Order: sequence, then structure tokens, then C-alpha cells
Amino acid sequence: MKLSTKSLVLLTPRRTSFALVSLASKAGTGVHKPVGKDGEGEYTAATKGCFDVIDTATPAILGEIFKQDAISSPRAYHIADYGTADAGTSLGLLSRMVESVRKHNNNDEQEVVVHYEDQLTNEWQSVFRHALGLKHVKDAYGNHIETPIALGNVYAEASGVGFHNQCYASNSIDFAISFTAMHWLSSCDVSSLSGTPFMHAARCPEAPQSEKVQAADDWKAILKARSKELVKGGRFVCVNFCVSKEGYFLGQTGKGKSMWDSFETAWNQLHEEGLIDDKEKDAISFPSYYRTMDEFLQGIGEVGGFKVVSAEEKIVPCPYRELYTSGKTSFSEREYAEWFVPTTRTWSHSTFQSALNQERNDKEAIMGKFWDNYISLVAKNPTEHGMDYVHAYIVLEKV
Ligand SMILES: C[S@@+](CC[C@H](N)C(=O)[O-])C[C@H]1O[C@@H](n2cnc3c(N)ncnc32)[C@H](O)[C@@H]1O
Repeated sequence: MKLSTKSLVLLTPRRTSFALVSLASKAGTGVHKPVGKDGEGEYTAATKGCFDVIDTATPAILGEIFKQDAISSPRAYHIADYGTADAGTSLGLLSRMVESVRKHNNNDEQEVVVHYEDQLTNEWQSVFRHALGLKHVKDAYGNHIETPIALGNVYAEASGVGFHNQCYASNSIDFAISFTAMHWLSSCDVSSLSGTPFMHAARCPEAPQSEKVQAADDWKAILKARSKELVKGGRFVCVNFCVSKEGYFLGQTGKGKSMWDSFETAWNQLHEEGLIDDKEKDAISFPSYYRTMDEFLQGIGEVGGFKVVSAEEKIVPCPYRELYTSGKTSFSEREYAEWFVPTTRTWSHSTFQSALNQERNDKEAIMGKFWDNYISLVAKNPTEHGMDYVHAYIVLEKV
């Protein structure tokens, strides 16, 4: 029998169809669109700083594995990586985690399942090309990163449900990790900065109420979902963008120029050149929110069920600027700019593009001009430009 959407609705019990609608509305689909062609792994190729962010969390994560109850039964150990993107940046950590699980359980053959999680619109071919070792991965320093699947008895699975929902069966995940992902809100609808020059809630003198409330609700939804999925004694390590005590956030750490001010200059140049109109100039509104540590801890307290093992703010310097200023590259000023700017493009391109009038058929050409403007700005004074990372590193144990 061929099922139409209508017959599906008729056949589906009422409660289930409502549940599906609410699941879909919390999937976060569209808040972030991958750059590049699926299968090419452009995100990993252009996002070297995220390797350093993950490396910074690695000792704590491996330490937590050794504190867990050892698995003596033949059951597999389950790791979930939420907001994995194209899965390239976490390969090294996952390999170390598999080795640590096996050492801790005194079982070289211990089966491990790696669950890759992201939005349904994610570049899933890139995920599996990286995980299967078909596309090789290098970090910022040229080190080759091995896939955990090469260790044997490691299985990879994917979920496109969205991390604001429960993605896995209750009591099934031993270790949940998420890097640089859970700042994305569950919906674009709350983005309230269109019509203002701020672009992001973190740049506003006072974060707008709509983003603030949505971010608090989303964080609680994330915690409740992970709490269901984790086994007792399971860990959730969430490494997420934050606004630090000093007021620092991604790309704005008091070192050199603010990346956000440079975005604004490069975007406004389009307006000065008559390429975008007044409305498009002020239409940027990132559907993401950098929580403060207090906001993270408040949500954890309200949801309950977790012990806070540690919660720290950390700044990871931009590896592009660090390598350039230390003289470890032989790049000219322009070459540095062309090398660095794409790392800012991987996560922001789709938001900038959506500020353009939907009727336009020259959107990609305008976006090309915008990125050229930014590259030219950086090339004038390269050492002033970088994208330092400001994260909350939170380690939770399900009690
Ligand atoms: C900057 S990337 C981080 C990738 C990787 N974890 C890393 O650290 O390099 C953020 C990822 O979060 C994903 N993301 C955003 N909203 C999501 C949602 N609601 N559910 C699952 N993934 C989401 C995006 O699709 C994107 O792949």
C-alpha cells in the first residue's frame, strides 16, 4: 500500500502525531547550514581551532572514563557526540576514548558504538567519509588524525533528531560529549536582532529577553534529554561557547580587533557600495546564544539529576593567528587573510546570507564580495585579526 501524508496522519494515533510535530519543531533544522559540498569535509578542513578546543577537554574526559564503573558484561560501550558537524574534529578524541575504555575494562576487544548526532540537514556523507577513513584528517599542526574505527570493534551510527530532543533510548549512553554546538537555539524564530546593528545577543548592551529565555529553555531541554539517555554514572561533557566573567566571547577577547566589529565593517561596506539596502544592512540576527557560567549552572540546578564534577571557563587562542605571529608559516599578509577568514565563514555564512532579500538572485555573488571585504580588511593588518575561542568546559555525572 502506498501511504500519502494524509493517510499517514489518519493512521497515526493522535498522541503520536502531536509528538512528531513537537519533535520536528525542536530539531533546530536550518539554524546552521553546512558550508561546502556534502562529502568534501570543508568544515573540518577549515576549522582548525576546534581541534584545540577538543584537545583542551581531552585529559578531563579520559580521566572521567577511568572513574566510571567498569563494564564486565559483554555489553558494548556507547559514546554519543552531539553536534558533530562532519565528524572530523572529534576523531582523535574518540580514538583516545576507545583506548581508555578498553584499558579501564581490561578488555582489548571491548566493543564500542560511536553515535554521531547533528541536524537532519547535516553533511552525513562527510561524517562517514571521515569515520571510515576515506577522507584523511589533519589538525592545525599537520598531525594526521586516525579514526576510531581503525581500532577495530568500533561501530558508527548517526542520528539527525536534534540535540534538544531525546535522541537515544533511555539508559543507553555511557558517555555524552558535545563541542561548540549547543549555543545554537532550537529555532530561528526567536532571533530578535533584525533591524539593529548588533547581529548577536552577546554584542548587545543587555541580551534580548527572547534569546535569553529561549536559551534557558533549550539548555534545560538538552539536560533533560541527556539525563534520560545516560546510564547511571554516565558522563556528559559539554564544551560550549560562553560569555566569560570578563565579558569575552568568541572572537572578542581584548586581543587585536573584535571579529564581530570586522564582520560589521565588511558587511557595511556592501551598503556603502550600494550593493545592499538599509533593511539588509541591519537584518543579521544569529540564532545562537552564548550563556554565562551562571546561566549554565542555574539550568543544571533546576533540572537536577546531575553532579557537577567541574565547570571552568577557558580561552583557546586562534591557532591561525598563533601560527602566523610565531613565524611558523611563510604566508604573505594576503595569504594569511585567505587562510584565516574561511574559519569564520564555516559557521556564519548561512546567517549572513539569510539577511539578504529572499527575492535576490545574486546572493552568492554578494556573499563573495562580503568575504572579499573581510579578507582585504585582515590583509591590511593580519596580526590584529584572529578568532579566539571562549568556552565553558562543563563535566557532569548522572547520579
Ligand atoms: C561549530 S559546529 C561544531 C562541530 C564539532 N562538534 C566541533 O567541535 O568541531 C556546530 C554544529 O552544531 C550543529 N547543530 C546546531 N543545532 C543543532 C541541533 N539542534 N541539533 C544537533 N546539532 C545541531 C550544527 O549543525 C553544526 O554541525
